Amino acid sequence: MPGATVEETGREVTNMCGIVGYTGPREAGPVLMDGLRRLEYRGYDSAGIALVTENGDLFVEKRAGKVAVLQDALGADTPRAGVGLGHTRWATHGRPSDLNAHPHSDCTGRISVVHNGIVENFRELRDELAAKGHVLASETDTEVVAHLVEDAYRGDLADAVRAALRRLEGAYALVVMHRDEPDRLVGARLNAPLLVGLGDGESFLASDASALVAYTKRVIFLADGDVADLRPGTATITDIAGKPVDRPIDVIPWSAEAAEKGGYAHFMLKEIHEQPAALRSAMAGRVRGDNVCIEEIDALRDRFINVSRVELIACGTAYYASLVGAQLFQDWLGVPARANVASEFRYSPPPLDARTLVVAVTQSGETADTIAAARLARERGSMVIAVTNTVGSAITREAHASVFLQAGPEVAVAATKTFVTQVVTLVMLAADIAQQLGRRTKAEEDELVRALRALPEAAERAIELAAVTEEMASRYAEAAGFMYIGRAFGYPAALEGALKIKEISYLHAEGYAAGELKHGPISLLDADVPLVAVATRSPVYDKLISNLMEGKARDARVLAVATEGDKQIEQLATDVCWVPDTLDPLSTILAVIPLQLFAYYVAVARGRDVDQPRNLAKSVTVE
Ligand code: G6P
Repeated sequence: MPGATVEETGREVTNMCGIVGYTGPREAGPVLMDGLRRLEYRGYDSAGIALVTENGDLFVEKRAGKVAVLQDALGADTPRAGVGLGHTRWATHGRPSDLNAHPHSDCTGRISVVHNGIVENFRELRDELAAKGHVLASETDTEVVAHLVEDAYRGDLADAVRAALRRLEGAYALVVMHRDEPDRLVGARLNAPLLVGLGDGESFLASDASALVAYTKRVIFLADGDVADLRPGTATITDIAGKPVDRPIDVIPWSAEAAEKGGYAHFMLKEIHEQPAALRSAMAGRVRGDNVCIEEIDALRDRFINVSRVELIACGTAYYASLVGAQLFQDWLGVPARANVASEFRYSPPPLDARTLVVAVTQSGETADTIAAARLARERGSMVIAVTNTVGSAITREAHASVFLQAGPEVAVAATKTFVTQVVTLVMLAADIAQQLGRRTKAEEDELVRALRALPEAAERAIELAAVTEEMASRYAEAAGFMYIGRAFGYPAALEGALKIKEISYLHAEGYAAGELKHGPISLLDADVPLVAVATRSPVYDKLISNLMEGKARDARVLAVATEGDKQIEQLATDVCWVPDTLDPLSTILAVIPLQLFAYYVAVARGRDVDQPRNLAKSVTVE
């Protein structure tokens, strides 16, 4: 089946790889290495550069590991060259390795390509190219582009790139060069970021302004479908058919440091805003036509029929995402399913056998407790699926299959975009297995696919609507603590909202199942301890409203997260953050967005170190 186009799944995917290209009078090697170092702040697993040297050779060096490993391999001097391209890779297809690192070349070794994005039809293209006699060296989707350009090349690189692009489905930011056209770079963008930098007699391409602001602030932000043909100091932009298009030159006001954060004050804020794109990436190639299909679990499909129980294991934010997963596995597969805190799992493990499906959820893939729990489950014969953001991480070696979040690197310690992508990935995983087992109707599946397709735009809308949280936070920042409540799919959102407040503002917050409020924590509520209620439209809405009233009766200010159009809540709550309507199992994703932003602005108002809160680590590798 052909891959879904990105138009079908949404628009921009996350910026998962760093790209830089240069043509001009400087030594290209050091310019590229400097650009790669500036892109590396996001954390990468391999890096590489290619140069057309003054002798007319194509020089390529690429290494798994950090940019420093590449620098060591290059030594002090790179070959003299005025044109080149570089890449830091954050793996989505194929393990981090020297071979899979970019740049990738064609059969003749004349063409070099770097790519950010996902070529969704790469398997078809790879088979077609192999049948024509092309030899593909790596496991990456990118390499097919080099061979497609090779096939189309008739002496004009831009023409060949445009011909290759017409074959691609998915998302790309690409930079291509050819040994025989030694001052030329061709870049192209569709649903992945790429900008042109114009200096004095020199030109740049980069995925991220941080790679070029040290050299020039004059940039052209390419639009989807643009192809940029660069020579030193000039850029000609066309569409994919070759028709010239006009793009304005902008001047970036950012410093190099601000550019890393895309102009946002903190990585956390940037990553909150990246969530619509991260959701699109997570769904790319998985929400296809009218069904959901996760290819990574194909090898296990025969075994799903025997699954009698599902155990999810995770820590922190990933545990809260797992609470959503557990509800869905139970509802949709019709077998008992439970989310477990990984650090407790080993001390009181459930019966684990070949009929138990264990899903280990971990952003980093390196959390010691989650790895130990997964190992125990595997030793006892259970099938283990990892859901992680990190290709090649430790959890992928414990698991029988790994499903990647494709969320792009997350820098802020407080997880945001990886939470929403964990939830959506668990939704897709549960839906795929349930569908295969025939446990859900076609109508249910269709309804879910429609809601998934609408989700990235709904997340964009939720971010817009949450603009009010900045002003609200200034009124709540002096609270003595917070009580967060929710029911069903609102409960994990309440827990995650409370965790965000704790992590970055250092205020005490409790996340509670709303029905438990009156069994203890209600005694904490007063004028200084507000109640934050996740009260989105759902079958438990009326019950949640009763709990909200209990808080109001104790003089607590009530901040509600509610579905747009809910008239009743406006009368009841002190403040309301609106979110768009969605299918109940996806509501956690939208409800958490204003809670993330509320926590962010409370922390900023309290002068906290938002991106690196005290005492916390991004990944906890000790038990
Ligand atoms: C740390 C991080 C949390 C994260 C948890 C689990 O505590 O600060 O943000 O949720 O680890 O991490 P994992 O990488 O396994 O998802």
